[in-house]
Amino acid sequence: TPKLSTGELKALVRTVPDFPEPGIQFRDITTLIGHSEGLSASVHHLAEIARAKGAQKIAGMEARGFIFGAAVAVQLGIGFVLVRKPGKLPVSTIGVDYALEYGTDRLEVDPGSITGGESIIIVDDLIATGGTALATAQLLRQAGGTVEDALFVIDLPDLGGAAKLQQAGVAVQTLMQFE
Ligand code: PRP
Ligand code: ADE
Repeated sequence: TPKLSTGELKALVRTVPDFPEPGIQFRDITTLIGHSEGLSASVHHLAEIARAKGAQKIAGMEARGFIFGAAVAVQLGIGFVLVRKPGKLPVSTIGVDYALEYGTDRLEVDPGSITGGESIIIVDDLIATGGTALATAQLLRQAGGTVEDALFVIDLPDLGGAAKLQQAGVAVQTLMQFE
C-alpha cells in the first residue's frame, strides 16, 4: 500500500503562477516526483485503479504522461503505448491536431503498437481542457484499441476536460483536484 495518501500527494505539487503565460496557474509535478515517495505513491494509486479496470495496455502522452504511464505499466506487467509529439516516431503514423490550455499541438501513434480490440487505459499527469486526452482516445480507437478509461494525477475541473472525455465515452478518474 502506498505510503502517502492522495491528500499528502496534493501537498507536494508546486503551483507556479503565470507560466507559461499570464493567467495560467501551472501545477508542477517536479516537486511531487522529486520527493522520495511521491512518484511511487502516485503510481501505486493509479495502478490500483488500472488493475481493477482490467487494463491490457497503458498509453501515455509525451512527455509527462510517459513518467506515470510507463511506471503504471511496469507495476501491472503490461505493455506501454507511446503517444508522441510530431515527427518522433520512425514509422508511418496516425496523427491528430488538438487545442491546449495554451496553444495547439499534434500527437501521433504507431498503429502497429496496438492490437485490435485490446483494452487500453490512458494515463497522464494532468487533465485541463481534455484536448490532449481526447485526441489520444481518438488515435487509440482509430488504431483499433478499446478506450473506456483515463487516469490522471491532477484534475483541473474548472477547465471541463473530465466532462468532455465522459461525453466521448471515456470515464475519468483522478487523484486530486485544483480549482
Ligand atoms: C500538459 C499535460 C497534459 C496536457 C493537459 O502537457 O502534461 O498532457 O498538458 O492539457 P489539456 O487537458 O488541456 O490537453 P503539455 O502539452 O504541456 O506537454 P508536456 O507533457 O510535454 O509538458
Ligand atoms: N497543462 C495544461 N494546463 C496545465 C496547468 N495549468 N498546469 C500544468 N500543466 C498543464
